[in-house]
Amino acid sequence: MLTGKRILLVIGGGIAAYKALDLIRRLRERGASVRGVMTGAAAHFVTPLSVASLSGQGVHQELFSLTDEAEMGHIELSRDADLVVVAPATANLLAKMANGIADDLASTLLLATDKKALVAPAMNLRMWLHPATQRNVARLREDGVLFAGPNDGSMACGEYGPGRMSEPLEIVAAIETALQSETQIPLAGAARSRGPLSGRRVVITSGPTHEPIDPVRYIANRSSGRQGHSIADAARDAGADVVLISGPVAIPDPAGLAVVHVETAQQMLAAVEAAMPADIFISAAAVADWRIANAQTEKIKKTGSSLPTLTMAENPDILARIGKSSARPRLVIGFAAETEKVVAHAQEKLGRKGCDLIVANDVSPASGVMGGDENTVHLVTPAGVESWPKMSKAEVGRKLVERFGKMLEARL
Ligand code: CTP
Repeated sequence: MLTGKRILLVIGGGIAAYKALDLIRRLRERGASVRGVMTGAAAHFVTPLSVASLSGQGVHQELFSLTDEAEMGHIELSRDADLVVVAPATANLLAKMANGIADDLASTLLLATDKKALVAPAMNLRMWLHPATQRNVARLREDGVLFAGPNDGSMACGEYGPGRMSEPLEIVAAIETALQSETQIPLAGAARSRGPLSGRRVVITSGPTHEPIDPVRYIANRSSGRQGHSIADAARDAGADVVLISGPVAIPDPAGLAVVHVETAQQMLAAVEAAMPADIFISAAAVADWRIANAQTEKIKKTGSSLPTLTMAENPDILARIGKSSARPRLVIGFAAETEKVVAHAQEKLGRKGCDLIVANDVSPASGVMGGDENTVHLVTPAGVESWPKMSKAEVGRKLVERFGKMLEARL
């Protein structure tokens, strides 16, 4: 049931807008109140009168409407809800959201709101599959935007594939799930002074390491740094003083925290040691286990028939060093990237590396975790194993930081 819940429904301009009318009915049947906002294009597909009649409230369309602004300013409108739902979310609306563009009422509300947004994309399959849309979707997921669909199916344009908007009842189910968690988005700057980790220093490693073979070649792994970086984001939002030590990644540095860029495992170890002491150390990097002992200072050339021989040397285990050091942070968190026997291997690493908790995840190619946007994790402690459902890496980051905050509190 959604009794008493307030939904701000942004209706985009697509043929699926007609389903938004049914969505309003379904939400109201369950006790929610719905305030409708329509983009200019949406009014070509459904009328403001239908939205107003079904929602039982006025419909908002104009950013600079004198009458609307006098009744309720757009900032207030953006905050006066428990959840913002965008249905249909067109390619254009997703692009604006991903890039922070606010050029009409709907996009301005989406930027100004302090509540989570849940979007139900609807568009032609080529638009959905276009790299630009997929880039925007990935960025929105990182930002914590929730998605309902799209589904595969036949489209109004006659094609078949992904891009069909979820059915109203599927969107209702996604809304119910979203409302079971906190939907208020903390304000990064303001939260810093009063968050649960305020005054705490958190050091996090993230991304892969590159181990040189010669000046132009290196050995690497598929880590994208997304999970580690989103933990850094969440720790900053929880008020911590964060140092993120990142291997080479293609994602931007998070704002509002110190980032140290390194390439090799040895450099990462030096940076971690320099960043100590800390209250929490989180070792999320996929550190290369080996480096090339006979790395060359000049590019290795082809020499007829003989192939170059690479000799490996074991890299320092950064996590084990910190976990067993005399200046051990109060909380030491490791990760275990496994392709089989995920929990069993993590349990073994827990003791061997001296950590308090291991976040174990399955990184076999079929899981899509390495480089992907989602993660399924198991929290392994000496007390047992807790398995979490699949979530976006941003959500995993927030929930992990919440847990680490509680663990730290219990140890003070
Ligand atoms: N780790 C580290 N330094 C290394 C290797 C790993 O700090 N040289 C850390 C990782 O950041 C992670 C944890 O150890 O938190 C486990 O990493 P993983 O690669 O799963 O384990 P390994 O110790 O490398 O064991 P194996 O590769 O045999 O599974």
